[in-house]
Amino acid sequence: MKPIRKAVFPVAGLGTRFLPATKAMPKEMLPIVDKPLIQYAVEEAVAAGVTELIFVTGRNKRAIEDHFDSAPELEKELENKNKLDMLEQVRHVIPSHVNCIYTRQSRALGLGHAVLCAAPIVGNEPFLVLLADDLIDATTPVSRQLVEAAHQYNGSIVATQNVDRSETNKYGIVAGEVLDANTIRVSRIVEKPAPENAPSTQAVVGRYVLEPEIFDHLRRTQAGVGGEIQLTDGIASLMESRAVYAYQYEGTRYDCGSKAGFFHATLEFGRKYHGL
Ligand code: G1P
Repeated sequence: MKPIRKAVFPVAGLGTRFLPATKAMPKEMLPIVDKPLIQYAVEEAVAAGVTELIFVTGRNKRAIEDHFDSAPELEKELENKNKLDMLEQVRHVIPSHVNCIYTRQSRALGLGHAVLCAAPIVGNEPFLVLLADDLIDATTPVSRQLVEAAHQYNGSIVATQNVDRSETNKYGIVAGEVLDANTIRVSRIVEKPAPENAPSTQAVVGRYVLEPEIFDHLRRTQAGVGGEIQLTDGIASLMESRAVYAYQYEGTRYDCGSKAGFFHATLEFGRKYHGL
């Protein structure tokens, strides 16, 4: 498999679960302590060797572009006041060898459609997808774990964790042949099955390494659960011609798309990394 240099961040979602906070501000800019969710995801991708960050944005998402851009007035002000620590943080939100590219998903047609919007920028190489809502605290960044596993098995791979059977209807669920302690070769992947229909309790979390062939499949994918073009359905179609793997990562995930998960992450990160 070619090196993975590009990461796609689908960030066009409306974030209705956090209204009114997200009325004028992207949900990806909500901070866990002092860093916006999207920055955690970006740092994770960069730690996995990614140099091209592709954001699939929408209306009201300008703050994300501003966040990863330079801020000359702010930098000048911090410099004048000799606040050098803060200046460093503002200047190095991303390292200088990393580029940001923005494209728009002009209609909310689903995660599969959002990923497809990145096709002209990704081109013919494997890439990462990160959903910033899933904040994962891990010794080895999960994207790096996943990239290493993708190279080992030479195929597309999704990150998974075990969930309670009562929760299968919130996730993509995979089942297949066990290859090693962490990895299965996927033979079924279903979007948000009811507990009684779920083929297992291994749930996809928001990290994927995908081969570029996925785009052809997404172009043919019809609307599925919720009337949306689902990435899960695109992967199910990809599996007919290419091997797809699932990797049970090591780390703790916080579902920051929910208030409970967001609150929990704030508490844990505050304690662990900020001595609060
Ligand atoms: C999306 C995917 C789902 C996956 C989940 C992980 O769902 O469609 O397959 O399990 O992310 O967070 P969403 O949470 O956007 O409904």
